[in-house]
Amino acid sequence: MNTQLFENVDWVGYVDWAVRDFHGYMTRRGATYNAYLIRDRKTALIDTVKGPYAGKLLERVAALADPATIDYVVCNHAEPDHSSGLPAVLEKAPRATVVCSEKCREILAAYYAVSGWRFKTVKTGDELALGARTLRFVETPMAHWPDSMFTYLVEDRLLFSMDAFGQHYASSNRFDDEVALDEVMQEAATYYANILMLYGKQVGKALDVGAGLEIAMIAPSHGVIWRSHIDRIVAAYRDWSVLRPKPKVLVVYDTMWQSTEAMAKAIMDGANEFRTENKLIYIRSSDVTEIATEVLTAAGLAFGSSTLNMTLMPMAAATLAYLEGLRPKGKAAFAFGSYGWGSGGPEAVNGWLEKMKLEILNAPIRAKFRPDEKVLAECRAAGRALAKRALEIAG
Ligand code: FEO
Repeated sequence: MNTQLFENVDWVGYVDWAVRDFHGYMTRRGATYNAYLIRDRKTALIDTVKGPYAGKLLERVAALADPATIDYVVCNHAEPDHSSGLPAVLEKAPRATVVCSEKCREILAAYYAVSGWRFKTVKTGDELALGARTLRFVETPMAHWPDSMFTYLVEDRLLFSMDAFGQHYASSNRFDDEVALDEVMQEAATYYANILMLYGKQVGKALDVGAGLEIAMIAPSHGVIWRSHIDRIVAAYRDWSVLRPKPKVLVVYDTMWQSTEAMAKAIMDGANEFRTENKLIYIRSSDVTEIATEVLTAAGLAFGSSTLNMTLMPMAAATLAYLEGLRPKGKAAFAFGSYGWGSGGPEAVNGWLEKMKLEILNAPIRAKFRPDEKVLAECRAAGRALAKRALEIAG
């Protein structure tokens, strides 16, 4: 495995092949926690890894330099997937100073017993000379947490971008030109949708800062390092940060006795009369991670749930609560679903769509027990209207 970014700049992270659930995010291709070692007159470690893998990080460091010689540990972001290895690393690097933003220091102090730690807090524009190389810091609040920061290795034009541009993607290869690019872009979209979608404005600001830097390589905290396809991932981030939609319709549903499913399929039939990309997702054959990823670029969303106990079904409720938190704006939508003696499912879905401030195209479409031909015709017509509106929104 090639782990060298530049001479004396090496990846020393951990590839987590087994993880499939990252705080509810379904990591179907595993994950990596990236850390990087820079050896100069001073030695700097950029980030650490998840706590259980700190020993593996220290083994990688030890193959290059005695961990006791580390002068600085830069903590770009205090979320525990990057910082929970810090206490174990500092035990083996007793002379190291933790370099981080003031916010990061506050969060680290909340998570760990930091009384014996040496800190150097930095802000945008501050630099730290390592010898022939220089670290420059750029605060990027809310991309992903208030403490988040980029670190730029000036002479190599290397941006350590923390969560930004990351992907949950386990691989024996470290660089974007050594892996299947479409797979990595898919995982980058999944990462953006599930981790950063609601922080689009702040991501846009971070992109503006990045545009002011000459960049030869982007080394995120997760997944592969970008060196051959920087333009492609930056362009994708530009689109995602403003939620630029595609001419795409999503029909998402949960169903008890296939009535809502029949309605979903009729909506698809209507949408399929247009040249939009249309996808049908049965919630219980999917997961919130995949659905959020599809929602990221959809211009139209039809969401259905049967009625259960006078409200929507539990997986539909969980999906809508998750989506609402991610703030997927700028889409046309409507609700649909079946009921028996007391309705509530489609109405509750409609309430969530309103809460998300989506453009509601029509009142919830409802079917009593089974959708008859009249209801199915209404579903087909709504599918057509949704596809037409999706084309307009996507321009
Ligand atoms: Fe990979 Fe926001 O932590």
